Amino acid sequence: MPKLRVGVLVSHNGSNLRALHRAAAEPAARFEVVAVISNNSGSPGLAYAREHRIATRHLSGKTHPGPDQLDEAIRAMFVEHSVELVVTAGYMKKLGPRTRKQFAPNILNIHPALLPRFGGPGMYANHVHQAVLDSGDTVSGPSVHIVDDEYDTGAVIAQLEVPVLAADTVDTLAARVLTAEHTLLPLVVQQIATGHHLYLDSRP
Ligand code: GRF
Repeated sequence: MPKLRVGVLVSHNGSNLRALHRAAAEPAARFEVVAVISNNSGSPGLAYAREHRIATRHLSGKTHPGPDQLDEAIRAMFVEHSVELVVTAGYMKKLGPRTRKQFAPNILNIHPALLPRFGGPGMYANHVHQAVLDSGDTVSGPSVHIVDDEYDTGAVIAQLEVPVLAADTVDTLAARVLTAEHTLLPLVVQQIATGHHLYLDSRP
């Protein structure tokens, strides 16, 4: 049976990309990472993909000044590589309507908190973890959700809880959540690849 073809978008570090790629090398894996796009030509995630001979492209406002052209270039790259599932993993931009129309609902994002709390515009990176610490919550953890046309509002399909400890700083909490991301994201992609039907809550 052919493996599920996954396209990944990254902006910076790309540790989730690396986790996915490593999981794809497991004998039981039913998916493969076939294309990686970054808006950041200096992204370590992009460099990793190149080193591992994954098809890569730097596509950004610099390479494509018009948002519509950029959207089309992203769509075309993934179509060219017969991508079936798109994952935004630390991608700091919104996907355009052409890419969404081509691939939705098969577009996933990973977010470093338990959505629907601590999501939306401005809720990224350490802002998220600071907000969790400020809230006094005793659990946090990553969420995987379907991408729609807003930030962090699409249906949540999986979460993994980690404790928030009294002594936590933003950095210690971020590290614990990121480690959980590296477990959760490959699991979700493998589940989709093996034909598990995900329950999507379509209530408003
Ligand atoms: C992760 O915390 C992810 O949840 C968020 O951005 C971060 C990306 O980390 N969307 P990395 O680039 O995968 O290391």
